Amino acid sequence: MQTPGLRVHDERTGKEYNLPVQDDCIRAMDLRQIKVNPDDFGMMAYDPAFTNTASCRSAITVIDGERGILRYRGYPIEQLAGKASFLEVAYLLLHGELPTETELRTWVSQVTHHTMVHENIKKFMDGFHHDAHPMGMLISTVAALSTFYPDAKNIRDPEARKLQILRLVGKMPTLAAYAYRHSVGLPYVYPDNNLDYAGNFLRMLWKMGDNSYAPDPILARALDILFVLHADHEQNCSTNVMRAVGSSNADPYVATAGAAAALYGPLHGGANEAVLVMLDEIGSVDRVPEYIKRVKDGKFRLMGFGHRVYKNYDPRARIIKKTAEEVFEVTGRNPKLDIALELERVALEDDYFVQRKLYPNVDFYSGIIYQAMGFTPDIFTVLFAIPRTVGWLAQWQEMLDDPDQKIARPRQIYTGAAKRDFIPMAQRKPAA
Ligand code: SDX
Repeated sequence: MQTPGLRVHDERTGKEYNLPVQDDCIRAMDLRQIKVNPDDFGMMAYDPAFTNTASCRSAITVIDGERGILRYRGYPIEQLAGKASFLEVAYLLLHGELPTETELRTWVSQVTHHTMVHENIKKFMDGFHHDAHPMGMLISTVAALSTFYPDAKNIRDPEARKLQILRLVGKMPTLAAYAYRHSVGLPYVYPDNNLDYAGNFLRMLWKMGDNSYAPDPILARALDILFVLHADHEQNCSTNVMRAVGSSNADPYVATAGAAAALYGPLHGGANEAVLVMLDEIGSVDRVPEYIKRVKDGKFRLMGFGHRVYKNYDPRARIIKKTAEEVFEVTGRNPKLDIALELERVALEDDYFVQRKLYPNVDFYSGIIYQAMGFTPDIFTVLFAIPRTVGWLAQWQEMLDDPDQKIARPRQIYTGAAKRDFIPMAQRKPAA
């Protein structure tokens, strides 16, 4: 018995077509049989920004936007954040299962022994202007890593892939810290293999001179939780880039640089920095109504609000909000939290936001914590890129192992000029 599918009636020709349905999807290629004339190209699906297109099958992360659910390899984010370390979650995303104690110990040791970068990277980093944006430095430097590791081109060799993954997971905090230290004119600090992932990162950022530096355990733990929350998120914009660049068999360094470039945009990972700029502009709780009105007049976009998938509260934002209180016990309360809480309170009661199902997303509160921890807004997206590198790499290797996948090359609806003959220069007229 044939599994029920779609029966399509083309009113232009009176023809009928059976389109098989699997996983509540039709294969777009099954549309191509629908033609008016036999030599037509055939039907396509038009989906700008891929709002309703499944680009792949994936077993890594799943989001239920209506219910505000996020799971990594089936584990709810609420059960992972605070219980599993970031490197434990990184292992889960990359390998598919939570590691045993021995597996975790080996994994942490391997990542830890890949935190150093080639000394020439420092010369590369020194070439940037003193006020270069850390994301611009990170993106360029990650791409430059591909020139240090030509073996990364062996993307079909599992051992070569594993080595590049260890290098990228291990080196991202080092590159991020170097970018920050360069932007504030401080010497680079080498990684300390005796510290955990977040603690080592904090030390590379904040160690001054020959003074010893011990990361505050509460801040290191809070950062580790934030890394867990930012690790992966289905086929978001930057992950789509990682898969697309990787689909041409480019090496993982340039693919990761491309993904980080997409993340940099203020509509994506750059939103955490944009939220702080927005809160600074609003300036005080009593100016919130004025800005809510500007949003409703379409003159202002509430950064850190709204999401393509979540039509409910982003579960990560809820956890971040709770983590903020733990951080503020150490750093003191960030007064910008009061403006953010008032924005949320007003927005969640206002019909404009309720109708559009606009809720705080992962970026709404993260910047407030980062600022309280001493990070400047221009490094916030770098803090997003570090953990998301694990998600990008997990998605990249899944794409390479998927027999359904090949080089990504979308089609288009052509709206340009019909065929026309070349015009010699003497006969050309300025365009109207
Ligand atoms: C991330 O995809 C992911 O998973 C991303 C991410 C991840 O982990 O990888 O979750 C990380 O990128 C989070 C999102 C961070 N970006 C922001 O906070 C920027 C502000 N948010 C928006 O720009 C917007 O909500 C997006 C980009 C996040 C989603 O945009 P969509 O899905 O394309 O929605 P839309 O722009 O079509 O908006 C739908 C309606 C529109 O109103 P109408 O035209 O129907 O009247 O909602 C309005 C929009 O104007 N709207 C907003 C709004 N977001 C959407 N109005 C005011 N403020 C906002 N933030």
